Amino acid sequence: MSALESILKETRSFPPSDDFRQKAAIPGMEAYNALCDQANDQYLSFWGDLARELLTWKKPFSRVLDDSAAPFFKWFDDGELNVSYNCLDRHLPENANKIALIFEADDGAVTRVTYAELHRRVCQFANGLKSLDVQKGDRVVIYMPMVIEAIVAMQACARIGAIHSVVFGGFSAGALRDRVQDAGARVVITANEGLRGGKTVPLKATTDEAMDMGGCESIEHVVVYRRTDSEPVKWTEGRDVWWHQLVDKQPEQCEPAWMNAEDPLFILYTSGSTGKPKGIQHSSAGYLLGAINSFRWVFDYKPNDVYWCTADVGWITGHSYICYGPLGIGATQVIFEGVPTYPDANRFWRMIEQHKVSLFYTAPTAIRSLIKLGAEAPKQFDLSSLRLLGTVGEPINPEAWMWYYEMVGGGRCPIVDTWWQTETGSAMIAPMPGAVPTKPGSCTLPLPGIMADIVDESGAPVEAGKGGFLVIKKPFPSLVRTIWGDPDRFKKTYFPEEFDGKFYLAGDSAHRDENGYFWIMGRIDDVLNVSGHRLGTMEIESALVANPLVAEAAVVGKPHEIKGEAVVAFVVLKGPRPQGDEARKVADNLKQWVAHEIGKIAQPDEIRFGENLPKTRSGKIMRRLLRSLARGEEIVQDVSTLENPQILQQLQESA
Ligand code: WTA
Repeated sequence: MSALESILKETRSFPPSDDFRQKAAIPGMEAYNALCDQANDQYLSFWGDLARELLTWKKPFSRVLDDSAAPFFKWFDDGELNVSYNCLDRHLPENANKIALIFEADDGAVTRVTYAELHRRVCQFANGLKSLDVQKGDRVVIYMPMVIEAIVAMQACARIGAIHSVVFGGFSAGALRDRVQDAGARVVITANEGLRGGKTVPLKATTDEAMDMGGCESIEHVVVYRRTDSEPVKWTEGRDVWWHQLVDKQPEQCEPAWMNAEDPLFILYTSGSTGKPKGIQHSSAGYLLGAINSFRWVFDYKPNDVYWCTADVGWITGHSYICYGPLGIGATQVIFEGVPTYPDANRFWRMIEQHKVSLFYTAPTAIRSLIKLGAEAPKQFDLSSLRLLGTVGEPINPEAWMWYYEMVGGGRCPIVDTWWQTETGSAMIAPMPGAVPTKPGSCTLPLPGIMADIVDESGAPVEAGKGGFLVIKKPFPSLVRTIWGDPDRFKKTYFPEEFDGKFYLAGDSAHRDENGYFWIMGRIDDVLNVSGHRLGTMEIESALVANPLVAEAAVVGKPHEIKGEAVVAFVVLKGPRPQGDEARKVADNLKQWVAHEIGKIAQPDEIRFGENLPKTRSGKIMRRLLRSLARGEEIVQDVSTLENPQILQQLQESA
């Protein structure tokens, strides 16, 4: 049974235990409904009150929302604050010695950092950046492994008002160059090497490669954190600076730069339906409010919790639910450098036991791969510290949900399936765990204050059970402000004219059941979700056609047991169509090529060669047919408009 079929048949429901509900911040459906009503009736004061309660302001705001230039909304726009002050300084009077980070390195070494220590490190590094003349509003690219210093770097940027753009350490030199160039960054922060699963990742060498590609002329400095003992292959005098030398003798205090609420906090690039990734630009105050508020509601956070999110700071989850939400509220959290399968597939369970993790947040793809490697493994560990589990990034199939619930959560932990996006900045649809009964495979109901709905092409709400476009009908504080350097694309993509520019269009399709629960069905655009990572089909196609052998390429997704979706590429070479061993050889080369052009995450699982692609008489590639071919389905579609039907047979064979 496919994941979609089993989701459509799902009827089980799991209310929180009485004990969990009674202790929860939102204890039961009445409390949840009351908050939703409050948001409905008094939308602006609902958000205004939260912003006063949860954020510390240097200068209070007098206006909650300015929608005069919609869809370019401004929240709290005459207020001033500093995000790093909110994440660090304000916790010091009472919690200076509380542990902020429990860092577990790839090799298992554990380092604990208190709030006071993290504050000191952030201030010193912020002063170091200032000594390189980094100013308010400058862009700084962070290309780091998952270590304490990645968080220090982000917080230090926030402290001085520089706009960070984190690039996932698994991305290639080309992807790094594109992001540096689009952001016009002045500084890159990286490490000599990263460590993952016992292997080194050559971050500095890849940065050098990017710098040499052309397009990175804006970069004045590359700051290099020494993670391993090895010396960088290359060192560019005047440009390259060691992290330890930069912070050496820097003062341990750094006055935060007081920022306007709407000043950009960061840009994070994500894939869309064109070849070029979009720089999603987030604000300071609205974003932080979304991160903190959703963190405390979705995870039902309590001050003595030990929280662990397994994401990398290269993704939005690592921004909102590692760097900003948990630190903003003063939580203790585990951060992890390695991978779930090293040194063995028990790594997660051992770490939960060892660090007494109470709130655990991971991706369905990790859950599925761990089931495969040892469905009974969690039983060997004491996981009784857990009281809540979360998932993010892709739909979770009910089988994996049930395993997570019973085997990891011991049947006592609510599972929060959180639906959200890089663009929304914080969780939008997820169960309030002390209130909303969960159903395997559904992200359930929106957070109070989030006006999510499902509409048809005309913008009218669809009835229960019918699929449609997932939209959010009112702006909310943590919503993307614009696409860096491309406001037109922002408007067209997210507030399209079909809906009179009134709704935020998420790009997902979904339906609601008779209880109003949301079930996400998948993307409506050409974006794939591979292991919870967003990949544009056009991005992979452009990488393929950049190869000298390739004339044309089309990329589609097909269901994959562990990754959710896998990449399948249909390729036409400039030369004759390869067959047999030759085809396999070319396919391997092209897979490596894509890994080198974008990163390993974008590598096709399968490549098929044809003399052409199936096209209509007007020359349009028929992707629907390619999708059926990739899935091995019989072609039932009408192929009468196809110019070259014989091509289908060729494309049925994979290399
Ligand atoms: C998908 C990740 C189903 C969805 C936070 C969305 C999900 C895209 C879920 C955003 C979920 C995310 N259930 N699908 N709980 N969470 N998605 O920007 O298609 O990396 O549009 O943000 O992931 O991916 P992004």
